[in-house]
Amino acid sequence: MDSVGFGTWGIHSRDINATLRAAVAAGYRTFDCSPLYKNEKAVGNTLAALMSEGVIKRRDVFLTSKVPPTDACSRNRTFKLLRQTLRDLRTTHIDLYLVHWPFCKIVVEDPPLVNQLGYSAAQLRETWKTMEEIASRRLARSIGLSNVGVNRLKALLAAPDLRVPPAVVQVEHHPFNANRALRRFCASTQPSPIRITAYSSLGSSERPRKYQSGQQPLLEDHTLVSVANALGTTPATVALAWALRGGVAIIPKSTQPERIVANRREVLAISPRLSAQQMEALDSLDRNFHYLSAAWRSYAWRPGMSLQELYDDPDPGSQSSWLATLIQFALVLAVAAACSREHQRRLNTVSKRLSEIQAAERMSIDWHSSRVADIHRHALLSQSGESQPESPTPSQTSSWSHVA
Ligand SMILES: NC(=O)c1ccc[n+]([C@@H]2O[C@H](COP(=O)([O-])OP(=O)(O)OC[C@H]3O[C@@H](n4cnc5c(N)ncnc54)[C@H](OP(=O)(O)O)[C@@H]3O)[C@@H](O)[C@H]2O)c1
Repeated sequence: MDSVGFGTWGIHSRDINATLRAAVAAGYRTFDCSPLYKNEKAVGNTLAALMSEGVIKRRDVFLTSKVPPTDACSRNRTFKLLRQTLRDLRTTHIDLYLVHWPFCKIVVEDPPLVNQLGYSAAQLRETWKTMEEIASRRLARSIGLSNVGVNRLKALLAAPDLRVPPAVVQVEHHPFNANRALRRFCASTQPSPIRITAYSSLGSSERPRKYQSGQQPLLEDHTLVSVANALGTTPATVALAWALRGGVAIIPKSTQPERIVANRREVLAISPRLSAQQMEALDSLDRNFHYLSAAWRSYAWRPGMSLQELYDDPDPGSQSSWLATLIQFALVLAVAAACSREHQRRLNTVSKRLSEIQAAERMSIDWHSSRVADIHRHALLSQSGESQPESPTPSQTSSWSHVA
């Protein structure tokens, strides 16, 4: 598989001949197809014509096709569809066969949704068994997945009876959606890394109207434009070159001859010229944004599903760390409650003690006042020559001393 291939989604069958001839002349040999693009027959006819004209040989061409989600869960339907694709592309084998979306028909009971597409790890494993059979029968030289998140990919790879790991994962990838976790994981797989192919790496500006909702066009982004100006090229070239420099294969689609040429030649030339600072600036645009999010939403199999739930399952590791955080939080609350009880107890003791002191003070003041009165009375009686009353004993005085 070449690192720069050619996308065929959205090209009308009547335009395939001229477009593919321009692509082959520009050096493309890897073609991304699908029966869902409704032009595989035209692609097959054009490539067969180019082969019979001696322009290309089958062994030089790398053909990718995909099994659609409506068919992927049935072994028979998958084989039926694959045979149709082989007939349409006029070949005996596919070089790379992908599961287009990791979804199957599922029956949801609450609320009742019959034949709704949905994801389940067990069903993807079943689909993958059919893919493994296709690979073992050499109908596909390699097999892979599309639109799969890193945690679903990990779950598939963890299947104890897995025989053939995916060779390629094809996902939406551009500076607004850099797929860091997926790239890191795919680069680390053994015995060989899983290759990533980017789709919609130009922002899929001509995606069907139903998938458009006023999102910012990728190619108008300020950083892309300024990097392009600095390198004397176009934002489209920069977006594609950025993906290539990140080790991701690209399959841009165009029907315009000059763009077809630029998307390969200029991109291959510009990619090594992107400086570390320019790569950093482009990396910083990542915001996990999907231009095809409306396509994902149409697959929601539970009311109110978030896009995040549609794209991937939560990381089981982060779930356990989430649980650990919850436990820590509960412990902090319990300690805080215990501290607050102890604090209250101490407050009660202090306030009781204060009340005792105040009472004692009041008594002391009363005693001092009566003592002063006694002294005055004593002085008056002395002056008048009458006998003196007794002064308080030392034991009486010491009984107040603790409140001084
Ligand atoms: N696995 C999947 O689920 C999936 C999903 C989507 C796409 N794909 C594959 O990926 C391929 C590419 O993705 P995509 O078709 O969504 O979109 P894309 O390649 O991001 O963008 C294609 C659009 O950009 C325009 N364009 C091409 N080169 C350009 C340039 N140099 N400057 C400015 N505009 C340019 C094209 O218009 P012109 O034709 O007028 O040049 C076309 O409208 C598809 O064709 C398909 O093979 C796979």
